Amino acid sequence: MKIAIDGPAGAGKSDTAKALAKKLGFIYVDTGALYRGIGLYAIRKGKNPASIEEVVPLLAEIKIEMRHIESEQHIFLNGEDVSAFIRTESVSAAASAVSAIPAVRDFLFDMQREIAEKNDVVMDGRDIGTVVLLDAELKIFLTAKPEVRAGRRLRQLEAKGIEAKFDDVLADVIQRDYNDTNRDFRPLKLAEDGILFDNSEIGFEETVEQIISMAKERMA
Ligand code: DC
Repeated sequence: MKIAIDGPAGAGKSDTAKALAKKLGFIYVDTGALYRGIGLYAIRKGKNPASIEEVVPLLAEIKIEMRHIESEQHIFLNGEDVSAFIRTESVSAAASAVSAIPAVRDFLFDMQREIAEKNDVVMDGRDIGTVVLLDAELKIFLTAKPEVRAGRRLRQLEAKGIEAKFDDVLADVIQRDYNDTNRDFRPLKLAEDGILFDNSEIGFEETVEQIISMAKERMA
């Protein structure tokens, strides 16, 4: 079985997908980490992640792998486990930039398909239900109001001891939404057979519970 969880940044996709995978005994696949791996490589090579001319030649040098170690996903870039280096703000921005390049999306497509063919998966990303797993049995478009997502992000930053202003975080959320939904190639959008799930008013536990019951209906 394949479950696709798409949606904008800050909707809680990864926590939700992870919890679903655990409860269902499926593999959780965070596809954003693959784009982050490529963004990191571009930064390390001193290239502009938004430049097609600079990024495309790098793809021939990149071997990116996803391995599950004690049920945690790790990303290997040319053999090095880079999982600890891909969560910074600069890598987030680079990932967003490289993800708009069609050749980058094609480069990562086969790997995502392959893992879903071999396993029951909960895969989170931006184009899982619309491109990567067109045949997913359940497609959720998880979202929340920008202000709610910015508030959650602010609390995550505070928990890490990072100071930030709500207005700046909100501006960043809005900018990322714009980039992800307005790129020409495979933008973030609701699949025709996808379910729009707005969790602005409900908590994490309830989000997971409701999606689990939808998954179980489809498994029956
Ligand atoms: O989910 P995330 O924040 O880790 O994703 C990082 C970037 O990669 C984000 O800007 C959108 C992009 N991305 C994408 O275009 N398609 C995916 N399937 C996953 C992520």
